[in-house]
Amino acid sequence: MNIKQLYKQISQLQENVELTIEGWIISNRGNDKIRFITINDGSTIANMQLVIKGDLASKKEISEIAVGSAVSVIGKLHLTPEAMQPFELSVSKFLYINNPQEDFPIQKKETSLDFLREIPQLRHRTSLFRAIMLIRNSLMFEIHKYFQSKGFLNLSSPIITSNDGEGAGETLLVDDESKDYFFKQKAFLGVTGQLHAESYAEGFKKVYTFGPTFRAENSHTSRHLAEFWMMEPEVAFCDLKGIIEITDDMLKNVIANTLKNCPEEMKYLDSLQNNKLIESLNNFINKKLTIIEYKDVVENLKNYVDKFEEKDIFFGMDLASEHEKFLAENIVKGPVAVINYPKDIKAFYMYQNDDGKTVAAFDLLVPGIGELVGGSQRENRYQKLVDRINELKITQETLQWYLDLRRFGYAPSSGFGLGFERLVMYVTGTSNIRDVIPFPRVAGSIKM
Ligand code: 4AD
Ligand code: MG
Repeated sequence: MNIKQLYKQISQLQENVELTIEGWIISNRGNDKIRFITINDGSTIANMQLVIKGDLASKKEISEIAVGSAVSVIGKLHLTPEAMQPFELSVSKFLYINNPQEDFPIQKKETSLDFLREIPQLRHRTSLFRAIMLIRNSLMFEIHKYFQSKGFLNLSSPIITSNDGEGAGETLLVDDESKDYFFKQKAFLGVTGQLHAESYAEGFKKVYTFGPTFRAENSHTSRHLAEFWMMEPEVAFCDLKGIIEITDDMLKNVIANTLKNCPEEMKYLDSLQNNKLIESLNNFINKKLTIIEYKDVVENLKNYVDKFEEKDIFFGMDLASEHEKFLAENIVKGPVAVINYPKDIKAFYMYQNDDGKTVAAFDLLVPGIGELVGGSQRENRYQKLVDRINELKITQETLQWYLDLRRFGYAPSSGFGLGFERLVMYVTGTSNIRDVIPFPRVAGSIKM
């Protein structure tokens, strides 16, 4: 049994049951007669108190157990319904003790986020990072659960690719001339799994890929990583409206279940956000999603130019993150799907609307972050797609296989990409993306 299971089964717990607990030490106080040691076993951010009495308490090696030590103990469960923690362990024996050779780097006084970013291999032993990583784990599990329960096929899009799937020129090179082309041609780390997912949607109908993606974006922001995880569903026989409905339903489901899976962690994070985090997530879960046309967003934002650094607001502009956040936080006051963006600021594969100016794209914007999801209906007309690729000077040859999908029994499809780290930020209320992935990679920095 781990500590999380004990909390879950609290009403059935029996006094004096013998238990083994393995974990890492949070604190150790007391004297030769009685010691109270707090331990965390990684199953939840809730700790357990170990009580050591008699001869055992007077032993030197027990008093020397320090913050960060790894310990395994056996003891009897003692129920303490009136206390802060509803149970503790009366220790009968230490099976294993490993004390740090020197002071554990994370002591209470030294836990600024900047300091912790220097030691990503250890920072998960703080309550904050335990909570974030447990929630990250739940979100990932719930996403798979959601799509599996809806009959989606999970495909593993390749990580090494020969195309720039977004056509944005932000690829990281895997192999080049100087290495004599291992693949006999240039190869990149994938910026998206979408194009490969699209091929599988033609045949499996509903698919999703969920894996690491890589972008050589030189943006030093709190929302960009060079390596991030993206979840991308692709659905055949589905249009823009249909894919927005799937996005909304999936997110509500995944977040609601995570609130249930991780009550202790959410309570803790909520307390760091003036108790507003859970309330705002529940507002999203319980409210119908707002959908707004890009052109109406532009008109709307013009009324607030004095609020922005970028004051030039016009049809055709790419919304800056300040505009996206303002829209979600102050105008809509919750998540919002913006649809029908100008085609010139969007990727080549999006369905061109009849107006000749816009594409059937959507971005889902959320408070605190801005863009969480980007998606679209795909261009199904072969010639329109070829013309757009040529217009953008993308080499047609590398994408011929993708274009040809339209020629071999094609059902119009739609899909989206969810930036997984941005979802973790949204649900945990974290303001820097480097703090929601175990080992962040950004331009100019790669630790471990
Ligand atoms: O909007 P993006 O670029 O869309 C695509 O890649 C499409 N192929 C998705 C699709 O239709 N299948 O990226 C999707 C999402 C963004 O909304 C954002 O949340 C996240 O991926 N994202 C990043 N997250 C962290 N670091 C970066 N550098 C990111 N770039 C995009
Ligand atoms: Mg986007």
